[in-house]
Amino acid sequence: MNSFSDRSVNRAGTNSMKWDRYKGRDILPFWLADMEFACAPAIIDSIHKLTRQSIFGYTLPSAEQYNAVLKYLRDEKNVLAEKDWIVWLPGIVPGLGASCRAFAGDNDAVMMCTPVYPQFMLAPANQGRKAICVPLARKGMDYGFDWDAMEKCAAGTKLFLLCNPHNPVGKAFSRKELTRLVDFCKRHDIIICSDDIHCDLIVDQGARHTAILSIEGAAERSVMLMAPSKTYNVPGLACAFAVIADADLRERFKQAIRGTSEWVNMFGLEACRVAYEECKEWHDGLISYLRGNRAYLLDFFANRMPEIKVGSCESTYMAWLDVSELGQDNAVKFFEEAGVGLSDGADYGEKQMMRLNYACPRSMLEEGLNRMERAVASLRAPVGPKSYTLDNAVENA
Ligand SMILES: Cc1ncc(COP(=O)(O)O)c(C=O)c1O
Repeated sequence: MNSFSDRSVNRAGTNSMKWDRYKGRDILPFWLADMEFACAPAIIDSIHKLTRQSIFGYTLPSAEQYNAVLKYLRDEKNVLAEKDWIVWLPGIVPGLGASCRAFAGDNDAVMMCTPVYPQFMLAPANQGRKAICVPLARKGMDYGFDWDAMEKCAAGTKLFLLCNPHNPVGKAFSRKELTRLVDFCKRHDIIICSDDIHCDLIVDQGARHTAILSIEGAAERSVMLMAPSKTYNVPGLACAFAVIADADLRERFKQAIRGTSEWVNMFGLEACRVAYEECKEWHDGLISYLRGNRAYLLDFFANRMPEIKVGSCESTYMAWLDVSELGQDNAVKFFEEAGVGLSDGADYGEKQMMRLNYACPRSMLEEGLNRMERAVASLRAPVGPKSYTLDNAVENA
């Protein structure tokens, strides 16, 4: 099997959240962030091996599992972490909640830049904190931090939730941008919680992921949340971890998860080890396949649906689409009626935008884009035969 198309799996009957939304309807799902590819054989083998144990008791993370994470951080992320820095979690979202609880008090604010993954906006409210949503500065389809707006909102802010790479705009922040962010947070005494779940999905050849903990001065004020779940397609195994260098921040974070999110299941822990230690070739194949899908999609929109503007898709496997030119009040419904299920940009804090997950076989992407094109074409003004005027007569003479 060398093409990721061959790794696609029929997910009917698997309780897939993504597919069951449209159960019994001819709507292809391009919304939720998991992939249509079977995960790496080494991960599947490791799960099979574990199922041969006849007791699934309380299980501690093994030395090998810690070592795999520490080596990954050192070799791939330029972060020399120690075992103590790792706090295992059943997911990134519990880590966002724990950070809000740990680092912001009842009347404090938590800042984030929108559009952003909806759980960012929900996390402060879930913990009784206040969310301050600062829109990213946008030029065309390029997004970046709006430093002036962030300065204006800094008073009363105790925590900054960073999404790096950024879901949904697909931007991997540069070292320069992150250095400025650390400086901004230092001046205003703000802790940074960086969600790096998409960090190994860098699709653009010119882009790269920079870990916040590799930035000078960040360690004393940063929590980095990571997981193999997006990259290796194992979110159902519920395993993530926080990397926290500073002992005081770590203790506050651990206190915030005590009694709630302390345990990670044994399958997730082992899949995490195997992903980081044994799946390099699979990962290279995935990125190469995603690059092909991205190129196909960018070309398709540019040439066949120019009414829809697309972001750079630098990282993550999401395309961020501006559908405002279509003039639809309910673009989700419009495309569902055409047989395509997309995410609504309004849920991310930006209306008239949509998100399309292109981590699927090329044939599914082609079918989805063809369906979208037919729907968009139906909105175009009909081009009738040219009526014959005096001007035409002169032109044609
Ligand atoms: C930026 C981001 N953070 C977190 C998550 C979810 O993480 P988890 O399932 O580990 O809670 C997602 C899922 O799409 C995401 O895009």
